[in-house]
Amino acid sequence: MNRPIFLIGFMGSGKTTLGRKLANHLQKEFIDLDQLIVQRVGMSIPEYFEKHGEQQFRIVESQILKEQTASNVVVSTGGGSPCYFDNMEWIVTHGTAVYLHLTPKALHARLQQSKIHNRPALKGLSGDELLQFIEEKLAERTPFYTQAHLHIDQLNTSVEMLSQALA
Ligand code: S3P
Repeated sequence: MNRPIFLIGFMGSGKTTLGRKLANHLQKEFIDLDQLIVQRVGMSIPEYFEKHGEQQFRIVESQILKEQTASNVVVSTGGGSPCYFDNMEWIVTHGTAVYLHLTPKALHARLQQSKIHNRPALKGLSGDELLQFIEEKLAERTPFYTQAHLHIDQLNTSVEMLSQALA
């Protein structure tokens, strides 16, 4: 496979963890788009949202996404990356896109245990408000995510199964 692989899906769907494992399994380089943005802008994502606003973040995110053309990489994208500008069209044209699917309930459980403060898009929500936000945001983003070449059930897909499906 001589195209970059992009893992896409909602916040908390495990893109980074699975991306790292997949890259290791396929002996490819792993790139975390959020980390790359942090390095490039020299501050954390919450700080960047605070200082420059989400709109500017989406511009920078799109620019850095579109630099990922190397064939030998697995890229974990941010939850919003495919959903702005022509990013999803670009992803499916330049790479192989894998959508990590999880239900809102499963995402809710995972996000409640994770570092929510690192995710300004969640606006400090918790409990039922968080679940409602996930349901609404996921419904809005699903038309983008489902353009991926491959859809996987995140909870029941091993790295071995995924690499076979990609072969
Ligand atoms: C965002 C998801 C985050 C990060 C930013 C915005 C979103 O990435 O890019 O906080 O809008 O869904 P993760 O999906 O890795 O948490």
